[in-house]
Amino acid sequence: MTHQIAVIEGDGIGQEVIPAAIEVLNDLDSDLEFEYGEAGDRVKAETGEALPQPTYDLAAEADATLFGAAGETAADVILPLRDAVDSFVNIRPAKAYPGVDAVRPETDLIFLRENTEGVYSGHEDDLSDDLSTLTRVVTTSASEKLADFACDYVESNDDHDGFSVIHKANVMRKTDGRFRDGVVGVADDRGVDTDEVLMDAFATRICLNPEQFDVIVCPNLAGDVLSDLAAGLVGGLGLLPSANIGDDNALFEPVHGTAPDIAGQGVANPTAAILSAAMMLDHLGYSEEAQRVETAVEAVLADGPRTGDLGGDAGTETVTAAVVDRL
Ligand code: NAI
Ligand code: MG
Repeated sequence: MTHQIAVIEGDGIGQEVIPAAIEVLNDLDSDLEFEYGEAGDRVKAETGEALPQPTYDLAAEADATLFGAAGETAADVILPLRDAVDSFVNIRPAKAYPGVDAVRPETDLIFLRENTEGVYSGHEDDLSDDLSTLTRVVTTSASEKLADFACDYVESNDDHDGFSVIHKANVMRKTDGRFRDGVVGVADDRGVDTDEVLMDAFATRICLNPEQFDVIVCPNLAGDVLSDLAAGLVGGLGLLPSANIGDDNALFEPVHGTAPDIAGQGVANPTAAILSAAMMLDHLGYSEEAQRVETAVEAVLADGPRTGDLGGDAGTETVTAAVVDRL
């Protein structure tokens, strides 16, 4: 069966790392058909719109979307795109690899981040010259849906035997209280083990003892911040892929942004984008191909060539060619 893939490179290094991921996908024996859409700062400067309707529709109608990054318009692009694919969970693995100089080489974490509400639901107001407010939205239904996904996730993989629930319900009693009750309630009903960790204490604990954690279920903002923190533990943003999963659709993207400091130089690390493509393959049912890509990436990380962020001096194309070679 042919799968339609929407490809949205976006701005900055999105235009370098997504072509790298496509090159890897093209080397595999899969039935993916790519259709390209535009989004981000560049298209906004040209047309006035950061996310033109045809691009939104392309993502909404595709079997999956591969997205790079958008610059200043990131929120105007990625939030509606996650909405277009109706994604309720953002999966962000943060894993240290042999050969990569990591602050905490024992790190191997999977963040399952609530992807629709919390403080990112867009309810902000300026009430006076001195006062702005933000409404934090938490529903039992979204919390329970995330929990069901997390339970399926740990049950379908023998490596996992439960998950940690991160919140700050001691302070945000109503919103995080509802989140915690929803998530833990579902896990208890389904007989899945959970432990609860307060968000601030968790930040310290993953720095000191990341091996104490495995699958982590958290509210939207907390997942965004804590997974970037985990990126720092494993060697940088150039390594972290992510998946936004909906009931019938999904979007895959590196965690990093447009990296304006290195964009256009051909030196961006393609690993995060290539691993995002591997997550997409897995999601579409090409689990063997996904595993092959991961193995090839791991081999290149271990033996080189490496990009500058990992201490090497190879460019994006050289690293991508090495991954293709390993395949
Ligand atoms: P960033 O992730 O673009 O860069 C942070 C640092 O990590 C930079 O020093 C960069 O060179 C490095 N880095 C990131 N990815 C790399 C890679 N693949 N290889 C080597 N080094 C890499 O985050 P920053 O600087 O906070 O944001 C830059 C722009 O990106 C902003 O306009 C922001 O709005 C946008 N952004 C977009 C996102 C999205 O579209 N999902 C996510 C995060 C930021
Ligand atoms: Mg972020």
